[in-house]
Amino acid sequence: MSNQDADRIARNAGDSPQRSSCARDGAGSVQGSIHSASSTVRRSGECRRENSERNGDQGKGRFITLEGGEGVGKSTNLARVVAWLEARGLEVVQTREPGGTPRAEAIRRLLLDPDVEEPLDVDAELLLVFAARAQHLARVIRPALERGAWVVCDRFTDATYAYQGGGRGIDPARIAELERFVQRDLAPDLTLLLDMPIEAARERVALRGETPDRFERERGEFFSAVRQAYLARATAAPERIAVVDASRPLAAVGEQIEALLAQRVSAWR
Ligand code: TMP
Repeated sequence: MSNQDADRIARNAGDSPQRSSCARDGAGSVQGSIHSASSTVRRSGECRRENSERNGDQGKGRFITLEGGEGVGKSTNLARVVAWLEARGLEVVQTREPGGTPRAEAIRRLLLDPDVEEPLDVDAELLLVFAARAQHLARVIRPALERGAWVVCDRFTDATYAYQGGGRGIDPARIAELERFVQRDLAPDLTLLLDMPIEAARERVALRGETPDRFERERGEFFSAVRQAYLARATAAPERIAVVDASRPLAAVGEQIEALLAQRVSAWR
């Protein structure tokens, strides 16, 4: 997700959590998009009606997350997932963690800012992640799913198990306690885990030429532990988490993701 997209998400979420997009195929199409801030409410209404008319028993919203270490191509592939769903007439809410609402984005800045002299305690980091998540769930994710929209989120709780669990060494049982407290029974329906060797991924991050954030400044061992924790999550939940080899060319990765989506969506119908 570009910074521009993220800023827009944060701004829009403050006014209305219904930052939606809706695309109908065929003639007389109506294209609404998170790229256009105007007439969002009217379009949301159309999407809601359309979802219940077109989806039938699939009127239930679905929750899809993208995960992976730094530099694996999440943003590009997230856009592809959103485009694929929109092309099928579904209302899609694209969002991210930590963040997705103005207050949660403020917590994100606290988490990512590398220039604060005071070190961030690992437990404080964990609680901030879940504080942002609670706000995001209440303001954006639950309302969207309840009205039948599809939520596509750049990272969610698997990232907490990977970064705070694997990377920082926090006991996964403590993460699970907070997960139950904040999410109750809500979990993603499908998680696409983009996986590739960390050296190649870190080269991609370096090529971006951006100032590294607090996580990106971590050492190689941290990212190895993050990757291993992600892969262990996928092994433990193969039905929900699909591992995608992100070291291949973008087109091949995108094709696999679309095939996975097609398979899941038809199974959900
Ligand atoms: P992003 O740059 O991919 O948007 O993610 C921001 C950073 O936040 C990334 O380095 C991973 C980190 N993070 C956690 O440490 N725990 C979490 O639960 C989430 C969602 C992200």
